[in-house]
Amino acid sequence: MKSFRQVSSLLSRSSNNKRKMSQSAAQANLVLDNMNPCIKKMEYAVRGPLVIRATAIEKEIEAGVQKPFPNVIKANIGDAHAMGNKPITFIRQVLALITHPPLLETNEFPEDAKDRARAILKGCRGASVGSYSDSPGIEIIRRHVADYIAERDGFPAEWTNIMLCAGASEGIRACLKLMTNPGEGKRPGVMIPIPQYPLYSASLAEYNMDQVGYYLDEDRNWALDPAELERSISEAREKCDVRAIVIINPGNPTGQVLTRENIVDIIKFAYKEKLFIFADEVYQHNVYAEGSQFHSFKKVMNELGAPYNQMEMASFMTCSKGYMGECGIRGGYAEVINMDEGVMAMLQKSISAKLCPTVIGQACMDAVVNPPRPGEASYESWDAEVQGVLASLKRRAQLVADTLNSIPGFKCNTVQGAMYAFPQIMLPEKAIAAAKEAGQAPDVFYAFNLLEATGICIIPGSGFGQRPGTYHFRTTILPQEDVTKEMLGRLKDFHLEFMNKYS
Ligand SMILES: Cc1ncc(COP(=O)(O)O)c(C=O)c1O
Repeated sequence: MKSFRQVSSLLSRSSNNKRKMSQSAAQANLVLDNMNPCIKKMEYAVRGPLVIRATAIEKEIEAGVQKPFPNVIKANIGDAHAMGNKPITFIRQVLALITHPPLLETNEFPEDAKDRARAILKGCRGASVGSYSDSPGIEIIRRHVADYIAERDGFPAEWTNIMLCAGASEGIRACLKLMTNPGEGKRPGVMIPIPQYPLYSASLAEYNMDQVGYYLDEDRNWALDPAELERSISEAREKCDVRAIVIINPGNPTGQVLTRENIVDIIKFAYKEKLFIFADEVYQHNVYAEGSQFHSFKKVMNELGAPYNQMEMASFMTCSKGYMGECGIRGGYAEVINMDEGVMAMLQKSISAKLCPTVIGQACMDAVVNPPRPGEASYESWDAEVQGVLASLKRRAQLVADTLNSIPGFKCNTVQGAMYAFPQIMLPEKAIAAAKEAGQAPDVFYAFNLLEATGICIIPGSGFGQRPGTYHFRTTILPQEDVTKEMLGRLKDFHLEFMNKYS
């Protein structure tokens, strides 16, 4: 069994071998030694070696290889539909109508879905989703996003500040890229939570920027500690030019929902330190715990008033999460406020080189921000589907945390929101020694053993970052309720055996 790095290096060696073989026909000039070193450095655990092995095991099972389990359960990635969660009918109706407009002439679709589709098509060049849109997206959809934000927060939103993007990832990367130049001769740095969602560590590595980690407080349900922000920035300032802070709320992988007080602390800190705020709010619909509530950064900044409502901030949202889980459609938006006009023009220029985000993704975002209203034909069925999905996620959030906490050797915080649990595993010394012997980090060792023994694919905590000497893994709460129960049963049996073996 191999560590992340070992497997990555094996992968690159095997592609190197293939390249060498093809060199008899043509000499490659671009080789590992002279390619962009930043790309070689970046890692993305959510699709890393464990997942590659899980897919290989699936193939082995298909080919008839006997395993001690009937199937692989992929709890590694927040991909709801892949785990059997159903699409929302209204969203798919709008998408069906825009991609095949003759359906508008049939009686098969409700009027509200047809209205939305007609408005989107009117905004498309040539009335077709097959045409390019403006680079920041179709105006009517940007206006609908601004209306959604204004309704959510009770403060106005400018449609010209909305940039539609192919998933939140693209918007996040577009904004990060604005900050890659060294300031005062130092490398640029960005503060990110630890544990974090690896899009950030991977993108910072790719853009040759410094990752400035601030630890979330596991003992306080992964709350953010202002003193930790101070520690982190004062250590980082010595070696890099800290330009921005990323906040993921609700949290991935940690599943916490920040309190309003916490958000106020962060805004004040960012103001004092002159930081651009990246508010990753893609899980804003996914709040489950009693007493937890989503507060957007935009709303809190406006409630605080001047000077905080004049700070630079980008907030990100997506079609991939929430109740919709439309990951493959690639729809998202960024609301960018208080950005210097010249920089905003450069941001628009930089996204224009990619022409435009997928128009179907934009349309999906439209269906999310402009859903059926009370009194419209689809409202009741839409509401029932949405509430059904969210209620099921809430049950799974509780089931996963409660079950993990009932197993000796696990400590799991309440999953207040998002789609993940990030339990701590109390690994015995002997297991840590065995991992060392195998040349693996202890949590990676645990995760590979779990996969081989049970078919459960989770991601070790080291892929997200964790305090040294602590070990975690991330599991999604996305497998269907019966599969979640099955998974937890297999996990418990494995864990007890593992602990027994290494105690
Ligand atoms: C915190 C967070 N931000 C951003 C994303 C990116 O999602 P997408 O690009 O599909 O919108 C994800 C996906 O899992 C996420 O968890």
